[in-house]
Amino acid sequence: MANAPTFSVTTPIFYVNDAPHIGHAYTEVAVDVLARWNRQCGVETWSLTGTDEHGQKILRTAVANDVTPKEWADKLVADAWIPLLQTIDIANDDFIRTTEERHESVVQAFLQKLYDDDYIYFGEYEGYYCVGCEEYKQTDDLLLGSGEFEGQYVCPIHGRPVEVLKEANYFFRMSAFGERLLELYESQPDFIQPDSLRNEIVSFVRRGLDDLSISRQSFDWGVRVPWDDKHVFYVWFDALINYISALGWRADEPGELFQKFWPSNHIVGKDIARFHAVIWPAMLMAAGLPTPRRVFGHGWLLVGGEKMSKSKLTGIAPAQITDVFGSDAFRYYFLRAISFGQDGSFSWEDLAARYQAELANGFGNLASRVVAMVGRYCDGRLPAAGKLDEADARIQQVVEAAVERATAAMERFAIHEAIAAIWTIVDELNGYLTEQEPWKVAKDESRTERLHTILATAAEGLRALSVLLAPVMPQSTGLLWTALGAEAAIGPLAEQRIDRVAEWGQLPAGAEMSTLPPLFPRIEAEQLG
Ligand code: MSP
Repeated sequence: MANAPTFSVTTPIFYVNDAPHIGHAYTEVAVDVLARWNRQCGVETWSLTGTDEHGQKILRTAVANDVTPKEWADKLVADAWIPLLQTIDIANDDFIRTTEERHESVVQAFLQKLYDDDYIYFGEYEGYYCVGCEEYKQTDDLLLGSGEFEGQYVCPIHGRPVEVLKEANYFFRMSAFGERLLELYESQPDFIQPDSLRNEIVSFVRRGLDDLSISRQSFDWGVRVPWDDKHVFYVWFDALINYISALGWRADEPGELFQKFWPSNHIVGKDIARFHAVIWPAMLMAAGLPTPRRVFGHGWLLVGGEKMSKSKLTGIAPAQITDVFGSDAFRYYFLRAISFGQDGSFSWEDLAARYQAELANGFGNLASRVVAMVGRYCDGRLPAAGKLDEADARIQQVVEAAVERATAAMERFAIHEAIAAIWTIVDELNGYLTEQEPWKVAKDESRTERLHTILATAAEGLRALSVLLAPVMPQSTGLLWTALGAEAAIGPLAEQRIDRVAEWGQLPAGAEMSTLPPLFPRIEAEQLG
């Protein structure tokens, strides 16, 4: 019997050298929306996030703050990274830390296997290293510094000079996997998305791959190399393995979760796509394991045209936004305003404008008008629809088309397109009310049946919208769902299936509606600080 389809999706694991900014939260939210969407499509889903706690970058931060790296990591995880999940309403299935035993033991077992199978050897390497990226760099990838960095090579991402490192280390025979990687990209064209990133990575691999230094002996904040305890593993080699250690993979026993959910879809910022689309599949090939389902590299949030980052002091804390606009608006804004896969500039003005126009005036106002009219004209009970005319039937058609388009877009991870498709329902329903003028129909006693049909149609539209928008805005759709009386009449919102949402007439006549608090309250200028 074929296995039921499953969906597994991951964020990168984040460095704990600092607290999260909205760039990190952006990835978290995107992954959460994909996971919630798939769950509501009835697909068994697993979503993973976590923290990357080893390596020089964390060690240096801890030393600078006069604590051990483990103390530093524990504090940042407890005070910043776990609370982030609540701030932006993430429903992850697991949170992995690379300092956990369940992870470290898998790193050792995985790499012992590669060593036993002769994919790892001892050698020497000298090169430029960026501690910010935790990566050796080729001179082609670097810029020549100016001003205080005159005469030095500088990392274009971190804007700081790279360091020259010379070490005798263990190496992974990555050069042996070039052909197989190119075959993978060829046979699975959506393995790397979007296409621009795919092209970049294909040409990188075509130029030929070097072997990769995978251990360090100059510091000890990492997972010990099991066959030579003077060395710890290179932080990226350790980190990538989180995707299977969290699934409980073991060298001798793959484990139930691994069998069910691997291969996963990895959502990452485009800057780290190479690690995921080149190094990680090569490691898996060496271990004889299936390669990931897909690596999707999203764009950067830019501030002043540059990647937002704490090291450049341009980081904005997610709570600065959610405290004013709420978590739903945060989730909606970043996924709607930026094409997923492209860079996007953040601005408070744009956020405030979309909040007002799309959320407050568009969706929120629509919801409160319909619920209020059922309250006023029908004593808060959903009326039964009478004969449908063309305008009513059109609402159903718009919902059907939106579901189809949104589903296809979500399959490609084109989240912004999916939301835009769903938004056609908001616009259509607002237009429908303006045209049908139920407030006028209500004044004519001979047209009660028409009034009921309009309100029942609008309420059904809101039912569909609640279900379709629940993955993006779980809070406000939850309030609306309760106000529509749907919770009592149909059941919990999170259990509503997207593939059945266009079936009309699910809200039963007589469903008891309750008042709806403003979903997107007015923001006063002084709240913006
Ligand atoms: N620890 C590694 C990843 C290991 S995964 C096996 C790492 N961590 S990180 O803390 O630097 O976070 C990187 C991720 O944060 C990026 O891939 C991206 O998802 C997100 N972002 C960080 N800054 C960002 C922006 N300015 N814009 C969008 N996303 C950003 O790299």
